[in-house]
Amino acid sequence: MSNENNQEIVCRRLVGRTAVITGAGSGIGLATARRLASEGAHVVCGDIDETAGKAAAEAVGGTFVKVDVTSPEEVEALFKTAFDTYGSVDIAFNNAGISPPDDDSILTTGLEAWKRVQDVNLTSVYLCCKAALPYMQRQGRGSIINTASFVAVMGAATSQISYTASKGGVLAMSRELGVQFAREGIRVNALCPGPVNTPLLQELFAKDPERAARRLVHIPLGRFAEPTEIAAAVAFLASDDSSFINATDFLVDGGISGAYVTPL
Ligand SMILES: NC(=O)c1ccc[n+]([C@@H]2O[C@H](COP(=O)([O-])OP(=O)(O)OC[C@H]3O[C@@H](n4cnc5c(N)ncnc54)[C@H](O)[C@@H]3O)[C@@H](O)[C@H]2O)c1
Repeated sequence: MSNENNQEIVCRRLVGRTAVITGAGSGIGLATARRLASEGAHVVCGDIDETAGKAAAEAVGGTFVKVDVTSPEEVEALFKTAFDTYGSVDIAFNNAGISPPDDDSILTTGLEAWKRVQDVNLTSVYLCCKAALPYMQRQGRGSIINTASFVAVMGAATSQISYTASKGGVLAMSRELGVQFAREGIRVNALCPGPVNTPLLQELFAKDPERAARRLVHIPLGRFAEPTEIAAAVAFLASDDSSFINATDFLVDGGISGAYVTPL
């Protein structure tokens, strides 16, 4: 396992833990599956895309479960498979999400597009937390990481209205769960990545280079994040190294949310 600078990572903080990852077939989910496995976790890869999900599970010596994260039954089955296969559910990385082109300005975004994005990005997190928590309560231990986004804390004039609203919901829900279950040994954090170099972003920006340039200028580090950099943050939040970090909006954004003017 190596990071974005090809430095070898020898970190074994998750030996014997079981991690469930949604959207494990691509981008941030895939990089995180690799990272958590390299730290010793058993990884259960959930994805709606059977080919990509299976490949991810094979790559990390884990288990694939086909899941549509908008289905309560399929989400239940995902976490049950993790428990039945490995005997615990220690980490839930609720990460699957979509960013479709028909989610745009509020003036042009239809109700169907709005609802689809809410279902995949927000209702799914509700379903995954609801399914994971009982296992963690029985163990008296668990770390839940819900993928939000930096757009949950900052507004954009280049709007994706349902996406932004869904991620705001993820932040509020994660905070409240972190408070409610803290004394049962369960931490819940929202992860807020800045723009990451993944298929989701590449597809969006390939169609609209002007939009890409308009966003890049706001990043102090002058580049998009690599998926491995987000995976490193998830591994930290999943591990006992973050034992006093709970109910946060954990920003991994290259400084975007702290910037007023960026270097030329
Ligand atoms: N890429 C970015 O710049 C960025 C920035 C901030 C937050 N995020 C968030 O990070 C998460 C992952 O994004 P990514 O860039 O890795 O995306 P990606 O498109 O590379 O991967 C998403 C994965 O989720 C799966 N998926 C989609 N709908 C699903 C469903 N209904 N059920 C199960 N699986 C489903 C896809 O098959 C895919 O494998 C998303 O929640 C996204 O909103 C991404």
